Amino acid sequence: MQLKIQPADTSRPGFAGLVTGLDIAAGVSKEQAAAIEEAIDLYGVLIFPDQKLNDEQQYQFSEHFGPMEQATGDIAQKSERRLSMNINDISNLDKDGKVLKRDDRARLFGLGNMLWHSDSSFKTVPARYSLLSGRVVPQSGGNTQFADMRAAWDTLDEALKEECLDLICNHSQLYSRGKLGFDDFTDEERKKWAPVKQRLVRRHPRTQRLSIFLSSHIGGIDNWPVPEARLFIGDLNEHATQPQFVYSHVWKQWDLVMWDNRVLMHRARRYDHSVQRDLRRTTVSDAVSTLDQVIV
Ligand code: OGA
Ligand code: MN
Repeated sequence: MQLKIQPADTSRPGFAGLVTGLDIAAGVSKEQAAAIEEAIDLYGVLIFPDQKLNDEQQYQFSEHFGPMEQATGDIAQKSERRLSMNINDISNLDKDGKVLKRDDRARLFGLGNMLWHSDSSFKTVPARYSLLSGRVVPQSGGNTQFADMRAAWDTLDEALKEECLDLICNHSQLYSRGKLGFDDFTDEERKKWAPVKQRLVRRHPRTQRLSIFLSSHIGGIDNWPVPEARLFIGDLNEHATQPQFVYSHVWKQWDLVMWDNRVLMHRARRYDHSVQRDLRRTTVSDAVSTLDQVIV
């Protein structure tokens, strides 16, 4: 089998790649992992169809790409979890595998994934790569969309670029969920998810390209009044998620989708809440906070 990487959508050749000629479950060489990392530098998001993986195989493959994150951003307590702490549970299922009730707290919290975001931007050291495996996917709906934050930066006018360059944003899951009117947090969760600071503009250490580091977890900008900060971030978000910057992934069972959280945002789309959707995410951590990265 020969590893082959090509544009997933020929109308947008520089965003979203399709990877074939690879059997991840059988093990991936260092050389193959290096080729994948080079491809994701270009495409931002990679689709690997027909990868029938279990949790261990998914985790082992992810380990090629850096230090692994634990699923500390999930709302389920350890005793209520369906999956190990190595896996983010991106499903609508309880620990017995039953579809959550419409008003279940874990489901309502999970709806936050339908807002544009970058994974773990609410952690001091945010996520580098996310790898999402489609174990059970709905017949229709439930697509995942990706928006290219490099293209968004490149097309910002010069005055706005100048204004953004040194801004520091405050990120928290309390802010993203707050936007949906979900504020049902325990004191422990409020403490665990207290806001962290991230730069608004970041430079990718491998490609050297700049991008806007947007996420629905943003609730404020240092030294700005909150309403003004939220309007400003809202405007950037509108710019960054225009159709020409967006790729929509339509899931098939056993797709594995890998993306670089440093250069794109993503969100889930609606689906019938009474049908199963079981996606599982492994997450590779970045090395340092964006505050410790040099951008100029
Ligand atoms: C995630 C996520 C979107 C989706 O796994 O981090 O945001 O479509 N998923 O489920
Ligand atoms: Mn996500």
